[in-house]
Amino acid sequence: MGVKGIILAGGKATRLYPVTKAVCKQLLPVYDKPLVYYPLSVLLLAGIKDILIITLPEVKEQFKNLLDDGKQLGISIYYEEQKVPAGIGEAFIIGEDFIGKERVCLILGDNIFYGHGLPEQLNIAMKYKEGAQIFAYYVSNPHRYGVLGFDEKGRVVSIEEKPQIPRSKWVVTGLYFYDNDVISIAKSIKPSLRNELEISDINRVYLERGKLKVSFLGRGYAWLDIGTPEALIEASMFIKTIEDRQGLKVGCIEEIVYRLGYITKEQLLKLTQGMGTPYFEYLKQIAQG
Ligand code: TTP
Repeated sequence: MGVKGIILAGGKATRLYPVTKAVCKQLLPVYDKPLVYYPLSVLLLAGIKDILIITLPEVKEQFKNLLDDGKQLGISIYYEEQKVPAGIGEAFIIGEDFIGKERVCLILGDNIFYGHGLPEQLNIAMKYKEGAQIFAYYVSNPHRYGVLGFDEKGRVVSIEEKPQIPRSKWVVTGLYFYDNDVISIAKSIKPSLRNELEISDINRVYLERGKLKVSFLGRGYAWLDIGTPEALIEASMFIKTIEDRQGLKVGCIEEIVYRLGYITKEQLLKLTQGMGTPYFEYLKQIAQG
């Protein structure tokens, strides 16, 4: 049994208005590539080849223009719509047919993960056959997220969504692995007061069943979620700084699929044909070894 991947890229992105009134947040540039490349690259690094992208109906075609059916990358990409932002948990209901009987990895379309050892962490999560695996990160502003509470032995005992008084600074990031039970759990939970199917409610069911594993991403990792204009420019600067320093790209999906052997050198070069930007010049260099 494999693991299917879902990128949830709906939402109204109201904190970025007016920028996102007519333009989709997950297609905005983070330095030299669209934001959605970063979560897509995480799924690719995990080894996932079947990917569903969930978008608002009005931007589905734009995503297709960008990523097509994935064949050019040696993967399969499918599209579904979320008409209104009814919660992250709805991804598993929209994606029910796509998931089928398999396990699933969900990543939020505005999340960027960067750090040494990430592929290994993903590999470990890919191997769990049962339960849920989430990733926690230490932040300065926990009240905006799903916040973990611990007992005296350091075990996770609670997850609270956007609490006024956070029990810790460890919050749940937008990357989740689940067994197939997640579909029935998503159907069984009730919408919250803000009328959303909360991912924290799903995670709490796994916690109560004793089937929630939490990986703590230490300070050697960067986890960015792009909610505000500040976050958008900070992420761009962060990516630019690393890419300039190393001469290597972060979240470069074509490079990843080439290195994974999903596409040949000729196929990679074909993707760069007629393209003169530094992004594609970089890919040409990769192809030439
Ligand atoms: P949020 O940050 O909750 O929402 P948003 O990005 O639309 O922003 P804002 O608060 O400015 O209005 O969502 C995080 C990510 O999850 C983002 O990529 C959008 C996505 N999302 C959906 O696709 N559908 C949903 O129902 C929700 C709640 C989020």
